[in-house]
Amino acid sequence: MIKIMATALVIAAGLTTNVFAFHDGGAAHCNGCHTMHNSAGGVLVDPDHPNGNGWLLKKSTPSDVCLGCHATSNGALLAADPLVPGPTKGGGNFVFLKAANLNDGHSGATSPISGDRAGHNLNAPAFGLSPDATLTKSPGGNYPAGVLGCSSCHDPHGTSDFRMLYGAGRVVTQGNYTFLNPAPVAVGLDVGSTGGTETNTNHTAYKSGMSGWCGNCHGDFHAQAGGTKSIHPSGMPLGGTIASNYSLYNGTDDITGGNPATSYLAQVPFEDPANTIASTASPTATSQVMCLTCHRAHGSSAPNAGRWDFNVTFLSDDGVASGSYALANPYTSVNQRSLCNKCHVKDAYDRPKI
Ligand code: HEC
Ligand code: HEC
Ligand code: HEC
Ligand code: HEC
Ligand code: HEC
Ligand code: HEC
Repeated sequence: MIKIMATALVIAAGLTTNVFAFHDGGAAHCNGCHTMHNSAGGVLVDPDHPNGNGWLLKKSTPSDVCLGCHATSNGALLAADPLVPGPTKGGGNFVFLKAANLNDGHSGATSPISGDRAGHNLNAPAFGLSPDATLTKSPGGNYPAGVLGCSSCHDPHGTSDFRMLYGAGRVVTQGNYTFLNPAPVAVGLDVGSTGGTETNTNHTAYKSGMSGWCGNCHGDFHAQAGGTKSIHPSGMPLGGTIASNYSLYNGTDDITGGNPATSYLAQVPFEDPANTIASTASPTATSQVMCLTCHRAHGSSAPNAGRWDFNVTFLSDDGVASGSYALANPYTSVNQRSLCNKCHVKDAYDRPKI
């Protein structure tokens, strides 16, 4: 495996224009991912599969091919140890799928929640990952969980959209599945070392369309406008009251002391066309709550790919009962309650942690 990864990196670095570019927003050189004969210099390209692989890929599944370059570099999406995930550029790490227990709620130690729930499972046997053990399709929709992988969301042959995500009218090869809604509009950190990692002043600039895009597979989890379901709004304006709450909230210990010019929290992002990678400003009444306000696109150290753990009372409880990686508490105080409060301030009358 190390040898294959090294080979792939050499291929990536061998490009002439930009030593680190590979996809360049389009179909990269075909043999970065494909092999025509499963043979190079008389040696098998994939020794584990001497008869070759489907789609003439260099490894047995699409996700195995992608992880060959993306596990430890170019975004570093699959760390070696779920307790040492490293920082994220936004999407979150897939290593949490390997955690033994994510449950930091009441009785968390005796009622484990498997890492399987940490996010989107991938069919990537060479990297120790497999399809979801319980879910057979996307909740709210019909995407088959058995084939979910990198190329279910990202077009391996590139698109001009954010992160090469599939858009409206595109038929995704994995699952032969048609996307109805367009790719989201956003600007991400450069996946190389120059892009840095996610902070409140260096983060994905979410602009529009994320909720509809997730809805390609999750159906009407987002369709609150005119919809008939009583579910949390996504892809909907915050309104003046909630925007003001967000602007002033500076943690459970300081619920109205925030500075609206700097109160943007990367752990609780919102969509707004005015957002930039460096913006720190609060939302306005027309900014939107969206799926990635609460979730990570790849995975996190909390059930349901939560940007924070939805099961804990105090963020300082995260990781304690389960022994899993503790997600960062942006306000540092041990009294800090759920980040739902960034918008709803239901911790206004809460007692300190005892
Ligand atoms: C970043 C990796 C990557 C690169 C580079 C790449 N492919 Fe692919 N290709 C895939 C994967 C993965 C599949 C399997 C289908 C899927 O998962 O979408 C695939 C499938 C295909 C298929 C069959 C299914 C389909 O989508 O039509 C063809 C044909 C193909 N690739 C041709 C090419 C050609 C030609 C090039 C170079 C111009 C190329 N690919 C470059 C990853 C890649
Ligand atoms: C040969 C190594 C290699 C392989 C294989 C590879 N990538 Fe990449 N990928 C890179 C490099 C290098 C970059 C950063 C430069 C660039 O975007 O071209 C990158 C960037 C990306 C980005 C960010 C693009 C952006 O707009 O910021 C995405 C998304 C991505 N890859 C997805 C995939 C997927 C999905 C696969 C598998 C189908 C895959 N990659 C396979 C090397 C690779
Ligand atoms: C290509 C289809 C597809 C897209 C697009 C997609 N999902 Fe999923 N999602 C699935 C499938 C299939 C499952 C169930 C299998 C699994 O969890 O691995 C799932 C599961 C989930 C889960 C539950 C994870 C767990 O195991 O508890 C969450 C949360 C989720 N998706 C959120 C999102 C969000 C947020 C977006 C948009 C950023 C999104 N999904 C986009 C297919 C998709
Ligand atoms: C369910 C859909 C989905 C799947 C599956 C998925 N991605 Fe992503 N990916 C996204 C979205 C959405 C983003 C943007 C996240 C953000 O900025 O919040 C993203 C971001 C990225 C980035 C930019 C760096 C980062 O961490 O934000 C890279 C590189 C990438 N994905 C590659 C991959 C690879 C490789 C795989 C498989 C190992 C994969 N993705 C699986 C949806 C997906
Ligand atoms: C306000 C925060 C919030 C927003 C916004 C949000 N979610 Fe969730 N999501 C949660 C919480 C909390 C759970 C845990 C289960 C529950 O409370 O219903 C969850 C659970 C899920 C699950 C797992 C459901 C299951 O059956 O296991 C999926 C899938 C999911 N969300 C997808 C989405 C998608 C897609 C969007 C955008 C259209 C979205 N979520 C928007 C907070 C949110
Ligand atoms: C980015 C801001 C934001 C975050 C974070 C957020 N919400 Fe909301 N929430 C809204 C908006 C906007 C509405 C709809 C406006 C309203 O009903 O006041 C809403 C409505 C609700 C409602 C319905 C209120 C009613 O009057 O019917 C509940 C309950 C709720 N949210 C719970 C949660 C929970 C629990 C979380 C954390 C998992 C959460 N919210 C996180 C913005 C947010």
